Amino acid sequence: MKIIIIGGGNMGQSYIKSFLDNDTADASELSVYEKSADKKEVFASMGVKNFYTQPGSYLEKFDLILLAVKPQNFKELAGEIVGYISKDQLVLSIMAGIEIEQIQSLLKVQKIIRVMPNLAAQIGQGMSVLSSSAEVSRIELVTVQNLLESTGKNLYVSDEMLINAGTAVSGSGPAYVLYFMKSMKDTAIELGFTKAQAELMIYQTFKGILEYYKNHNDSCEDLIQKVASKGGTTEAALKVFEEFQLDKTIHKALYAAYNRAVELGKSSSDDPKAIG
Ligand SMILES: NC(=O)c1ccc[n+]([C@@H]2O[C@H](COP(=O)([O-])OP(=O)(O)OC[C@H]3O[C@@H](n4cnc5c(N)ncnc54)[C@H](OP(=O)(O)O)[C@@H]3O)[C@@H](O)[C@H]2O)c1
Repeated sequence: MKIIIIGGGNMGQSYIKSFLDNDTADASELSVYEKSADKKEVFASMGVKNFYTQPGSYLEKFDLILLAVKPQNFKELAGEIVGYISKDQLVLSIMAGIEIEQIQSLLKVQKIIRVMPNLAAQIGQGMSVLSSSAEVSRIELVTVQNLLESTGKNLYVSDEMLINAGTAVSGSGPAYVLYFMKSMKDTAIELGFTKAQAELMIYQTFKGILEYYKNHNDSCEDLIQKVASKGGTTEAALKVFEEFQLDKTIHKALYAAYNRAVELGKSSSDDPKAIG
């Protein structure tokens, strides 16, 4: 499968790395279109030699066009490439907030797969939520899902609007987990541990319970009860969470992220510069 990655920044580079590390694509099948010529060496060092800095009729030969420019650069990019791509080409977009219909209208192509990845996609441990236009065939979708497997897990949703919910849950999710980790780390240091000790404890606590959870059929509630014996230390901490309604705060925060994703999606259809 011949793939061209348009936009060779953080995500473009990490997708290529994942494809190569997992043998989902051979370097000879990959090409990059990136306006900064100085990035050519980065890709050459990965074995990807087909590097373009200008659009051209060569774009028509690719089975898949992966859009990895910033959302605010999409309109300009679309103007540059629309004359060189054919209406039957398959496009995979990782741009946050740009809706399928908008990509179809600006690129004049029908087959669009839209993906919302998260930060861990850069190390092959991401969670991506994806949707597609009706024109994408089942085989094309499965092929792209197999390709995306190299960046982590992926979840297909037939209703594109669920991508906004995915953005609120797994897209922004890494930041929520890191926020919790930081708060725990800061308190551990205050309680007397060094930074390195606190980091080790937090890291292993999160990693350990994730593995434990994965290997048991118990629900989160069941496991919380296992840790929190009556009148004990965990129960004392959980009572504070309840007193300050931490569950309601998290619920509110996810809805705030969801509403913002919806809002940004709407404003991007008038002005893609609105997404950043
Ligand atoms: N980072 C994440 O964790 C994450 C998560 C979910 C979704 N995403 C999405 O992934 C996309 C890429 O993000 P990123 O962090 O990789 O951005 P980035 O590092 O800025 O990469 C974008 C690249 O595209 C190049 N570019 C801009 N306009 C172009 C054009 N007209 N033609 C060719 N190349 C062009 C840029 O070159 P210059 O630097 O020279 O402008 C840059 O190298 C975004 O749409 C973002 O919404 C990212």
